[in-house]
Amino acid sequence: MTSVTSLTSAVHQRLASALSAALPENADADPLLRRSDRADFQANGILALAKKAKANPRELATQVVEHVVTGDVIQSVEVSGPGFLNIMVTDRAIMENLAARAADPEGRLGVPYAERPGTTVIDYAQPNVAKEMHVGHLRSAVIGDSVVKLLEFTGENVIRRHHIGDWGTQFGMLIQYLDEHPHELDHKSAEVTGEEAMSNLDRLYKAARKLFDSDEEFKTRARRRVVDLQAGDPHTVAMWQKFVDESKIYFYSVFDKLDMEIRDEDIVGESGYNDMLAETCRLLEESGVAVRSEGALCVFFDDVKGPDGKPVPLIVQKSDGGYGYAATDLSAIRDRVFNLKADTLLYVVDARQSLHFKMVFETARRAGWLNDDVTAYQLAFGTVLGKDGKPFKTREGETVRLVDLLDEAIERASAVVREKAQDLSEEEIAERGAQVGIGAVKYADLSTSANRDYKFDLDQMVSLNGDTSVYLQYAYARIQSILRKAGEARPAAHPDLALTEAERALGLHVDAFAETVREAAAEYAPHKLAAYLYQLATLYTSFYDKCPVLKAETPEQVENRLFLCDVTARTLRQGMALLGIRTPERL
Ligand code: ARG
Repeated sequence: MTSVTSLTSAVHQRLASALSAALPENADADPLLRRSDRADFQANGILALAKKAKANPRELATQVVEHVVTGDVIQSVEVSGPGFLNIMVTDRAIMENLAARAADPEGRLGVPYAERPGTTVIDYAQPNVAKEMHVGHLRSAVIGDSVVKLLEFTGENVIRRHHIGDWGTQFGMLIQYLDEHPHELDHKSAEVTGEEAMSNLDRLYKAARKLFDSDEEFKTRARRRVVDLQAGDPHTVAMWQKFVDESKIYFYSVFDKLDMEIRDEDIVGESGYNDMLAETCRLLEESGVAVRSEGALCVFFDDVKGPDGKPVPLIVQKSDGGYGYAATDLSAIRDRVFNLKADTLLYVVDARQSLHFKMVFETARRAGWLNDDVTAYQLAFGTVLGKDGKPFKTREGETVRLVDLLDEAIERASAVVREKAQDLSEEEIAERGAQVGIGAVKYADLSTSANRDYKFDLDQMVSLNGDTSVYLQYAYARIQSILRKAGEARPAAHPDLALTEAERALGLHVDAFAETVREAAAEYAPHKLAAYLYQLATLYTSFYDKCPVLKAETPEQVENRLFLCDVTARTLRQGMALLGIRTPERL
């Protein structure tokens, strides 16, 4: 357990006790503390309390002020406006607090663990077998990876599930074709690259599709193969497995490029729930949650209707007996709730699937699989748009391949790195180029709130000015270069020193890291962390412009400023790591 409390919580605690001393009947009233432009903090909670107690807010505020203990942490507290409190903290408290978090042996920079961690099953990074990955898959992977890191950092038990699309009627066609052309997935060399795997699959898919559309007899054989696959015919299943394995080679190469760890045991695709489908349907039918309608097993909702006003059901089993996407997702819920013992199910999936999840979750609630203690939430994300503001397509109108985008980002970033490079070797430029390019793509995605669409604009993403990862990475690298140049001087906090405005602003912002991480994790909102880090880099830049570090007046001043540099860098590094972005030591 980390015991470093933030300055914010120390101030909060002092105000809360002053409040309860002034208003004993409201012992646990919240002072509603926030950072403010006019003072270090402002408390707005008194207004509502005064209204409740039918008291004059300014008078109540004055009484509260009398009970606030000042001196050690709080330097001054004043009533302002209709009954706000403006609070200034002491320079000493700022530095002592930062020193405590810097000394935190676990290196958590003062971020506490959640009081009651639970188990979250997160469904993210779920591409489809035998298909190219596109920008939509990028979003799920990038957002999901950051949410995993945020949750784990706060102590949550996180179970990852990559619900890949590895089942469906198209496999009948693919398997039949491969069976008739057995060497199509053979490899020229032992070492298969992701690119090679994908081009094999792509070629095979196109050839199979062509035959399927032109040859009635092949079509019939392909349809029969679907039945064999569903019946578990060993030879057919072995062929299917080839497609899955080949696709995984490709997926891993893309995730690797994305600098993202995906583990084999966490890949549980749609096919992983086959054994549960019949039972899921039986349970739903027996409990009356689902009913037969024109032969299909359906769940109806009062508020889900088509354009013609007729109810649109969730189809759990088709009239021909086949199971679809919904049956799989409902079975996955049973698995995650009853076998994995999750209390939160999180789905990082495109907003265009929101109706599907709304119906699936509601069905699971009616069946009693979800309830007040076990909840499901779709972290729905918006669409990636091209520069023209329309869904991202190639000039030929095709979906853009994710790998091509990533390669282009790396190329652009390498050019930026090369231009600024002073003492980097070619090898280092290539490595940094990848870290900067992939960081840029991730940051652009994570810095807008997930539910919004965003424009994929590489020029903007790798820009050194503005809210980009490159800007943050340079801020980090610049601090490292100062620390290297410091020679004998070591970072050390000197709480006796008076702080300048820029130092205080930076120090207070570093203090807010713990609260920001808590909030970003609790709300599944990496963009809040991104905004915080951008602000941190900005405050650091103005500190650096105004306060000489190595040329400060006294040796203590030098050490104190080096300390501020160091704790800022560590916060940047930890924060970026939670977004899945590297911070190279030199750029
Ligand atoms: N494979 C799907 C797609 O590419 C996403 C799967 C989402 N997860 C789920 N449990 N349905 O659209």
